[in-house]
Amino acid sequence: MEENQVFIMDHPLIQHKLTLLRNKNTGSKEFRELISEIAMLMCYEATRDLPLKEVEVETPVAVARTKVLYGRKLAFIPILRAGIGMVDGVLSMVPAAKVGHIGLYRDPNTLEPVEYYSKLPCDIDEREVIVLDPMLATGGTAIDAISIVKKKNPKSIKFMCIVSCPEGIKALSEAHPDVKIYCAAKDQKLNKHGYIVPGLGDAGDRIFGTK
Ligand code: URA
Repeated sequence: MEENQVFIMDHPLIQHKLTLLRNKNTGSKEFRELISEIAMLMCYEATRDLPLKEVEVETPVAVARTKVLYGRKLAFIPILRAGIGMVDGVLSMVPAAKVGHIGLYRDPNTLEPVEYYSKLPCDIDEREVIVLDPMLATGGTAIDAISIVKKKNPKSIKFMCIVSCPEGIKALSEAHPDVKIYCAAKDQKLNKHGYIVPGLGDAGDRIFGTK
């Protein structure tokens, strides 16, 4: 089975910020800021294929033929709760996007995702969706979240995470071969507790300071 198109963003700014994010001594305030900044920078690449149309504007000097975004609308869908940390960053790049939320958690015994909340934009069938979660670990939550979104017939779906691993990429590629994956790193592996190694720990706890 072929893997989905996986885009690993090796831009120096992203990689530098990711190193700070991984450091266990980075506190919640800085961690939150870094997640948001990385999401913002990744959004730049994940929206590279948005179409443009030519328009004319008057500059103080002359009329310029120039370009504006055209014809496609976006929706960002963070997976609760860690995905929320990425929303400010992506919205700072695409302020007109709508935001839906999907609440899933991993059952600590089975590691299977359990859905407890879902609220999506009513016009999602007219939108390109980017699902957000900082960690692509087992892939279970991403797969389930994308299945929920697919039932609403969006124009397309991309998945954006910060740290991925081979197990998560494989599982997501098998379940949703049509979904492009954008990440800042593909780490070594999952450990037996479902954590990415070396990863950055529990993203939700580190964003919200709950541990
Ligand atoms: N979720 C996290 O927050 N961290 C991991 O390493 C895996 C899943």
